[in-house]
Amino acid sequence: MSVVVIGSANLDLVYEVDRIPSPGVTVLSRGFASFTGGKGNNQAIAAARAGADTLFITALGQDEAADRLAEEARNAGITLLDRRVDAPTGTALIFVDRKGENSIVVNSGANAELVDLTEAELAEIAAADVLVLQLETPLATVIAAARAARAADTVVVLNAAPSGAFPVELLSKIDILVVNEHEAAELAGEPAGTGERSLMSVLTVHGCDVVITLGAEGALVGGWGTTPVKIPAFKVEVQDTTGAGDVFVGAFAATLDHTADERSLVAATEFATAAAALAVQRKGAGPSIPTREEVHEFLA
Ligand code: ADP
Ligand code: NA
Repeated sequence: MSVVVIGSANLDLVYEVDRIPSPGVTVLSRGFASFTGGKGNNQAIAAARAGADTLFITALGQDEAADRLAEEARNAGITLLDRRVDAPTGTALIFVDRKGENSIVVNSGANAELVDLTEAELAEIAAADVLVLQLETPLATVIAAARAARAADTVVVLNAAPSGAFPVELLSKIDILVVNEHEAAELAGEPAGTGERSLMSVLTVHGCDVVITLGAEGALVGGWGTTPVKIPAFKVEVQDTTGAGDVFVGAFAATLDHTADERSLVAATEFATAAAALAVQRKGAGPSIPTREEVHEFLA
């Protein structure tokens, strides 16, 4: 299985604080750590660890953060097709308080420069079995990539995250939409707390297959004109759910088969549910992403 991921790469700078500072206040941090992240980067690592031949198209700056992201991606087995642009590598400044509440500031930096896909990038998309997209990359790029994939029978998986401005017409250019419950409600134009099956019926009207992830509840898989199937989550001791959705998406894409028929969607969702269950039992996003062997061992 070959997967192309187009998307963001960030360096996450995480400060542990007693209280998140309000305006005009200075606080001392209790601890600091930096991690490689960004939805595109996390999903590409998850796809590669799940055994897919994975190419990651991303934009990085010309700084140490870029070198670190590139090195960790290659160590995960990814083929990196990175542009080095004249903007700082994307960063996320994250404050986490004692209750685990957080405040985050993202500087898109280089990620905003991932525009005008080259002939070489479009050729990679056409040659792949599956293309994975998210919404941390300029929308025009997401649309152009989806078009190129569609013209070449590459299966298009869109993780419509983070939620926000989203043109519904993009839904007609993708094959499979993966969203969490919150994103599903926003996309469907329904209030939070609307039943997952109602959200599913609104979203599948657009003609794409839909996977709604439900946190500790698992995931719901549905296609146009079919009855949705619920795949329960595994009951595990949770350490850290950061990036669970990204692990799910990467593992899912790596396990789809080229037909992307209903049986294949359900099988990929089962594998992704197990991969995410392993990830939430470990701290951190990147280092917690399991390999194909670990997932099979867990399922055995
Ligand atoms: P996101 O991180 O995008 O909000 P979810 O919270 O829906 O996404 O989590 C994605 C997937 O990760 C779920 O479908 C589930 O398989 C797995 N997962 C998340 N939280 C848990 C949990 N507490 N226990 C077991 N699996 C979980
Ligand atoms: Na193709």
